[in-house]
Amino acid sequence: MSDNLFPFSDEHKMIRDAARDFARKEIAPIAAEFDESGEFPMTTIKKMGEMGFMGIEVPEAYGGAGMDTLSYVLALEEISKADAAHGVIMSVNNSLYCHGILKFGTEEQKKKFLTPVASGKAIGAYSLTEPMSGSDAGTMRSRAVRDGDFYVLNGRKSWVTSGPVADYIVVFTVTDPAKGSKGITAFIVEADSPGFSRGKKEPKLGIRASATSELLFENCRVPAANRLGEEGQGFKIAMTVLDVGRIGIASQALGIAEAAYEASVNYAREREAFGQKIGEFQGISFKIADMKTRIEASRLLIYQAALAKERSKATGERFTMQSAMAKLFASETAMFVTHAAVQIHGGMGYSKELPVERYFRDAKITEIYEGTNEIQRMVISRSELGLR
Ligand code: CAA
Repeated sequence: MSDNLFPFSDEHKMIRDAARDFARKEIAPIAAEFDESGEFPMTTIKKMGEMGFMGIEVPEAYGGAGMDTLSYVLALEEISKADAAHGVIMSVNNSLYCHGILKFGTEEQKKKFLTPVASGKAIGAYSLTEPMSGSDAGTMRSRAVRDGDFYVLNGRKSWVTSGPVADYIVVFTVTDPAKGSKGITAFIVEADSPGFSRGKKEPKLGIRASATSELLFENCRVPAANRLGEEGQGFKIAMTVLDVGRIGIASQALGIAEAAYEASVNYAREREAFGQKIGEFQGISFKIADMKTRIEASRLLIYQAALAKERSKATGERFTMQSAMAKLFASETAMFVTHAAVQIHGGMGYSKELPVERYFRDAKITEIYEGTNEIQRMVISRSELGLR
């Protein structure tokens, strides 16, 4: 989108350009290698921390960059365009971890648990899902029982992004089973807590350099001072934080789509068949038109959600629907665009010699995590129909 059409400030342009430059120079050259090995890209993630990308909206007093939501989505798009795995690590750190502590944490919790993560010195994660509780997050079974100045946690969590490497994790468990989703409480768990361990690492189709695992709690003692919010407030905290997380995933999806689109345009301009550039065939050119249109529509939905989130800092208004629409549309756009990109590239799109097949594999998860697109449709329609 042209800078003249959207009122970006100099600060927005500066962070977008810095992220673009960093992503091109430091991330794009290593993306294929880390996708292949599945190794966590600790060196580049630490550098992203030094550049302020791991806590973009966190005030400088707590180690962050003190910028706004539009800055966050612009930077995240650029990072994800080079590599979606770096994108999700950045998204989870910023939104699922930092935002929750910034919004619901005490002053002491912010100093102790936000500062190291927002500054990129440590890595944060968010743990809601369990083996038998995914979309229906209110049915989790892991337990936390108060014992003096501690809570004792037991249970198994799954699909935790950055689980294998996180230093701190916001974990949701049941404190009062009789109260359903109103009996869920959030805790900040330090990875060196007794009784905490990391379980099976997930072998994945895409975003392979981002580490995903189970987390195990066996009589894990967590200080009561680490409780985030009040007892029973956990489900609302989880949902509030996901509203922010989904804007991040939408931006990640946009970055993937952009990368696949640019590759496709270049290829369609150069590749020849039947005596002409393939872009001159309507079968290809119409694909390009549809790809571009959906990308720009995704971008506008993401900016709308980012602006709604920014406004909510003053008004407290929810932006649940804007965030769900951005994630729904951008993730389906990423699938549409990467699918078309493979087709436009033909055999080369299927080959590991080009990044196009990686974009295709990476896009799929954006329709699944942080709420499947079926859940996003439920959230949007419930809101429109006045059912919630
Ligand atoms: N903000 C604030 N409060 C919210 C809220 C939101 N976005 N959404 C719901 N609530 C509140 C409701 O107002 C309600 O409170 P009251 O009873 O006081 O009115 C309470 O929470 C319960 O809400 P619902 O009745 O709507 O709850 P539900 O059981 O019907 O479920 C759901 C709602 C939208 C389906 C929810 O369960 C959901 O989002 N599921 C998907 C979970 C998900 O996204 N998981 C991904 C985990 S993270 C991940 O993917 C891994 C990773 O590391 C990246």
